[in-house]
Amino acid sequence: MPSSPDRILVIGATGMLGKPVAERLHAEGFAVRALARSPERARNLLPAGVEIVQGDVAEPDTLARALDGCAGVHINLKGGPDEASYERVEHQGTRAVAQAARTAGIRQLTYLSAYTITAQTATSPEARAKWRAEEAIRASGVPATIFRATWFMESLPLFIRGRTATVIGRQPHRLHWLAAADYARMVARSYQTPAALGKELYLYGLEALTMREALQRYCAALAPKARVLTIPVALSAGLARATGDAELRSITTLLAYYNRHGETGDPATARAVCGPPKLTLDQWCRQRAQEQGITSARLAVG
Ligand SMILES: NC(=O)c1ccc[n+]([C@@H]2O[C@H](COP(=O)([O-])OP(=O)(O)OC[C@H]3O[C@@H](n4cnc5c(N)ncnc54)[C@H](OP(=O)(O)O)[C@@H]3O)[C@@H](O)[C@H]2O)c1
Repeated sequence: MPSSPDRILVIGATGMLGKPVAERLHAEGFAVRALARSPERARNLLPAGVEIVQGDVAEPDTLARALDGCAGVHINLKGGPDEASYERVEHQGTRAVAQAARTAGIRQLTYLSAYTITAQTATSPEARAKWRAEEAIRASGVPATIFRATWFMESLPLFIRGRTATVIGRQPHRLHWLAAADYARMVARSYQTPAALGKELYLYGLEALTMREALQRYCAALAPKARVLTIPVALSAGLARATGDAELRSITTLLAYYNRHGETGDPATARAVCGPPKLTLDQWCRQRAQEQGITSARLAVG
């Protein structure tokens, strides 16, 4: 198929953060193709105009087919919860995509990494896999934009079980919570300006709030019966050991890591190249309340 400058393959388009990117690219007029392990599931989730191809980053043949005729590829993968899965999906999967992208002559690769990722701070299974993925992208020689994003607002409901929103560890760092809609707009913009190529961009939202503060705002607006509870990392690790809960063990390892690392990047270049974020946490909560039909949402700030 001849390459179209507007055709972009999105890998992870069914995911919490990849879906808004696929939708935004589609809304801005790009020809979006989604690589999906389950095309049927993807069809139900994505806009009708998005082309869907069956594939898996662990099967390189499927990647060549999916990249055929594309000018760009956006990688929005998630591995875990065990270390082997982070390595297989995030590192080896990304490396396979980058190598296939080089063979296919792809002109731009974009990748969702995280704000803590450096050679020195790649000390958790997730961070190691992401650092190796970034290295594989750089080694491939494909012109790339790496998005080192902070915590997303969309993660906040994931902390809540029943009536408890649990913070593992003190989590002392103030984080500029980012809305997926702002991230999606910035990714779309990166495909419209050559200034984005060869950059590692720190994507931060507008306001700095600790994890606890952000959860309190979220709960006030959207889960008023929930209370925010902080538990020590050691207690969470002990619970995971005692119950054999692999997911809790992985979440504890993840949050122990973020307990140690705050935001150190500078978001100025990302904002200059891809535009500034627009949504505060309260605005995002209001939008979400509307989407969920919660008319009596009590917003922390009016
Ligand atoms: N949450 C945050 O605050 C935050 C902050 C910074 C960075 N991030 C990073 O954002 C990334 C994406 O997170 P998310 O919440 O969007 O994850 P998610 O909802 O779990 O989505 C992951 C996507 O990856 C796809 N996928 C997994 N294995 C695959 C494979 N072998 N081949 C092809 N596709 C595969 C999944 O497709 P299926 O539909 O087939 O399962 C799904 O579309 C993660 O790496 C995370 O670390 C998150």
